[in-house]
Amino acid sequence: MKNFKTVAALRAFRQEITSKGETLALVPTMGALHKGHLSLVELAKTKADHVVVSIFVNPTQFGPNEDFDSYPRMVEEDSLKLKPLNIAGVFAPSVSEMYPNGYASTVSVSGLTDCLCGAARPGHFDGVATVVSKLLLQSRADYAVFGEKDWQQLQVIRRVNADLNIDCDIIGAPIYRDEKSGLALSSRNAYLSTKELASAETLNVTLRSFAKDIRDGADIDIATADATQKIINAGFNNIDYLECRESESLKRVDQFDPKHPCRVFVAAKIGSARLIDNMAV
Ligand code: PAJ
Repeated sequence: MKNFKTVAALRAFRQEITSKGETLALVPTMGALHKGHLSLVELAKTKADHVVVSIFVNPTQFGPNEDFDSYPRMVEEDSLKLKPLNIAGVFAPSVSEMYPNGYASTVSVSGLTDCLCGAARPGHFDGVATVVSKLLLQSRADYAVFGEKDWQQLQVIRRVNADLNIDCDIIGAPIYRDEKSGLALSSRNAYLSTKELASAETLNVTLRSFAKDIRDGADIDIATADATQKIINAGFNNIDYLECRESESLKRVDQFDPKHPCRVFVAAKIGSARLIDNMAV
């Protein structure tokens, strides 16, 4: 498994495989890898001849009061987890490699970023769109795999890829959940105490019954109030959003219509951790 630290080294590898007519799939991550990330790698392996995982805690997607400094960094352990998967390499650039002195450009997507995490975390998706555009252009990957766990992020990335003619095949991977509790795996789950973890595990259960109520024709406002109460009762200290939206446009849904696919989305804080989840209605 190669260890790429610079864009030049990654490009040289890309050129080497291109000359042999081979394809590359990229799996962008911020590290602290868990089984959810590894499931993306497994999917990437089925798509391309070579897989590269990028590990970069991207400063531009964190707000001033967010967890950039405390975000878990463990590249060595991450590499050990990736070794058995037989991938081509890890791309772990420094902040100055990605954003050298004088760096001044931002990729910004409008519309899709006005709601959900875009509203709750101003500037977040500019950082995501910028770093992902850079990663796709640096690697010239044929495929890139992103988790449906971050559904809005996936839609934003599809938009950027199409709008900027990056020409990568963007692949969405299903949410990897803990088998027993259904909790969506997240690097931020590491922030949870045992008691908080037990509360966190109720989030997907509440979201599932919220989705079912909507599917069964419940009034969405009443279903939202009911699910909100359950989340607060479970011990969450704050709910950023709990909403039903169209799957692709992310437009708000007032009345369920089986002809238009929609999803329910939640972001809620417990202790110092902010957890997100979503699922199809
Ligand atoms: P990160 O949170 O490390 O996630 C990396 C990728 O793993 C994302 O595509 C995310 O959706 C996916 N993922 C995380 N947990 C998952 C789970 N339980 N099941 C399925 N997929 C899961 O998302 C980012 O990093 C960053 O914003 C990034 C795209 C790398 C840009 O910096």
